[in-house]
Amino acid sequence: MKRVILAYGAAGGHIAKISDVISEVLRSHDIDVTFLDVNADREADPAEYDGAVVGASIHLGRHEKHMVEFIRTYVDALNRMPSAFFSASLEVEADPDEAKGLVEQFERETGWRPDRVALFGGALVHAHYGFARRHLMKRQDEGQKPGLGTDVSRDYVYTEWDAVRRFAEDFAADVNASGTHRA
Ligand SMILES: Cc1cc2nc3c(=O)[nH]c(=O)nc-3n(C[C@H](O)[C@H](O)[C@H](O)COP(=O)(O)O)c2cc1C
Repeated sequence: MKRVILAYGAAGGHIAKISDVISEVLRSHDIDVTFLDVNADREADPAEYDGAVVGASIHLGRHEKHMVEFIRTYVDALNRMPSAFFSASLEVEADPDEAKGLVEQFERETGWRPDRVALFGGALVHAHYGFARRHLMKRQDEGQKPGLGTDVSRDYVYTEWDAVRRFAEDFAADVNASGTHRA
């Protein structure tokens, strides 16, 4: 059975939800999935797996710094195995070119060349953010992205779940078609 590591940062929890859907699809293709919350644990070595999926979200104009550091540490192993990156943000809806540019910047900063890259719409779960963050995001939305999630009394989910499942199906095929990569 092939083994895949699925690494994500869990700032607000939506990346973890997308990761759950991806893992369900991979498991349905007989792939064993190990989750790694990079906020809590950066020690797991991707070299011990046959493939890697990494998810990061955009917060305040960039992907999480700790995820950049994690990738840099393991970039050689990641570039040798089937690997996939997904990014979640509001820019995907508001300004797709900006979202693409931030993914390219992430690739430049890390030196990682994932085989597959997907950009998914993120979520705004205002109830989780607390007053200060809600206020900050409301101002950010008003300034830069009119119409996206400005009503702080409700939540917004912009993720297209079918696109998430297709991304996972394609990656499952990559992993199952490739040899064993474990160190
Ligand atoms: C404090 C904060 C700042 C954010 N800044 C941005 C941003 O600059 N650009 C963007 O496209 N999305 C931004 N978002 C939206 C997130 O990318 C989106 O909510 C994503 O789903 C978050 O994933 P997470 O719940 O795993 O953190 C921000 C969200 C929060 C909570």
